[in-house]
Amino acid sequence: MANLPVAYKDPAQPVETRVRDLLSRMSLTEKAAQMAQIERSVATPHSLNRLAIGSVLSAGGSAPREQASATDWADMVDEIQSWALSSRLGIPIIYGSDAVHGHNNLFGATIFPHNVGLGATRDSELARKIGVATALEVRASGIHYTFAPCVAVCRDPRWGRCYECYGEDPEIVRMMTSIVSGLQGTPPDEHPAGYPFIAGRNNVIACAKHFVGDGGTDKGINEGNTICTFEDLERIHMNPYLDCLAQGVSTIMVSYSKWNGSPLHSNHFLVTDILKGKLGFKGFVISDWEGIDRLSRPHGSNYRYCISASINAGIDMIMVPHRYGQFLEDLIFLVESGEVPMSRINDAVERILRVKFIAGLFEHPFSDRSLLHTVGCKDHRELAQEAVRKSLVLLKNGKDSNRPFLPLDKNARKILVVGTHADNIGYQCGGWTITWHGSSGRITTGTTILEAIKKTVGEKSEVIYEECPSAATFVDQDFTFAIAVVGEVAYAEFLGDRSNLNIPLNGASMISLVASRVPTLVILISGRPLVLERHLMDAIDALIAAWLPGTEASGITDVVFGDHEFKGSLPVTWFRTVEQLPLKA
Ligand code: GLC
Repeated sequence: MANLPVAYKDPAQPVETRVRDLLSRMSLTEKAAQMAQIERSVATPHSLNRLAIGSVLSAGGSAPREQASATDWADMVDEIQSWALSSRLGIPIIYGSDAVHGHNNLFGATIFPHNVGLGATRDSELARKIGVATALEVRASGIHYTFAPCVAVCRDPRWGRCYECYGEDPEIVRMMTSIVSGLQGTPPDEHPAGYPFIAGRNNVIACAKHFVGDGGTDKGINEGNTICTFEDLERIHMNPYLDCLAQGVSTIMVSYSKWNGSPLHSNHFLVTDILKGKLGFKGFVISDWEGIDRLSRPHGSNYRYCISASINAGIDMIMVPHRYGQFLEDLIFLVESGEVPMSRINDAVERILRVKFIAGLFEHPFSDRSLLHTVGCKDHRELAQEAVRKSLVLLKNGKDSNRPFLPLDKNARKILVVGTHADNIGYQCGGWTITWHGSSGRITTGTTILEAIKKTVGEKSEVIYEECPSAATFVDQDFTFAIAVVGEVAYAEFLGDRSNLNIPLNGASMISLVASRVPTLVILISGRPLVLERHLMDAIDALIAAWLPGTEASGITDVVFGDHEFKGSLPVTWFRTVEQLPLKA
């Protein structure tokens, strides 16, 4: 008989046949290694070749070098992949990164509005298109897997991850899960819910996160405790996962948070009985970053307990991410001692291999350099600009309802632009941009609000910019109007937990100074609603919530100067004072 390829290497074989064949050939060490995801900083030829580690990730900001290009990324990922392919069974890795509003780890990539702004659009087709564009830029850099979308339902804006959510209403979040079909491709109607689907090489493996109830913690405390009945947990926080499963989402990340005091990372009922059992999820469940380590707090530094509790609860891949030697040693000990059944290991590895086969990684393990031109391309930036336009929410337009203040006159004689956020790409992108928590300044390519204003106004218009205006700014000046751009600094996760939601960086006093002298439009750059005092609201002429718009600020001037209408509506209820919170229990 002609020497046929072994079943798992034969793309003509059904996926499940390939999974079973490969699993049958694997040693316990190789199976355990497939369940480990390690950070790129500890990925070595030994860990990938000798141990057959299953996955590698870039933490937020963990790039090959400063301002690394997509080619640099693809070279790095392909090199790591080559180490994996030279292992005994040649199982390719999945390389993951947080592309949560475009490929935000990549310098020069298109940065879309964060999810809170997309929730303001209520436009699910837009979300799907953003998924398509993001997948192209991610694959262009050689990466196969994104830890997105976050489908948390933010019930308290004091939570530092409010901007990663599409809104406070599960129905808004549900409609925006269409991004999964953009990222992975749209499955055929007959595709079974819960079974992973990835259309091809222009698509990425997606990850719905963080299962479940991460947006409902008490007082919005990050990684805190969500206290509610199972019915409310299902109704508010779990329903968006049904839409992700229906689209064939391939992976689901478990939340750091707790439900009624029980950590999700060790919750067998929710992860196995509900997600895998009742909802029929057939992809793989991944832990969060050192998520299992958090389990050890009540048990001292007993890492074996963390591994046993999380994997027996149903987690399949552990985002270790550094101490993988300890992880493998302890996991093998736990299996050999019987504390973690071999059947649990086989179930986990089957799920991981299933996703790898469906993603086509055995046939196409390396990057497709023909995609490089898509990174930051005109079409994607125009799509991002459209998303910015649609995300803007008009909160005030004129002191007299019969005399709207907007749109502004493109040919106004003298325009004053002020504020810490008027000329700051870093601030307008927010967290998860180039670095984990984002930062101030020109962190990547794009258009600031000031640049967009200058491009939009007529030749005869004079634009004066002062980041921090003072009384002297107005001496002997007769400005037609002012545009004040203020808001939040960049932050991520717990760094953004706030009980005080006033406008940072003295934004309120700057607004008062300007609005008392000149008719003023205020543009708020923030990941959530902020406190706007009554006197401030009375003093200004117009107010726009622009959320965290990303790199294409021309979307803001498109609307402010009248080329497009306002379309956005609030995804999160605006409060007057933080004492009112939570508005949504
Ligand atoms: C973080 C976040 C998660 C992210 C992961 C990898 O701690 O909770 O959303 O995907 O680690 O960066």
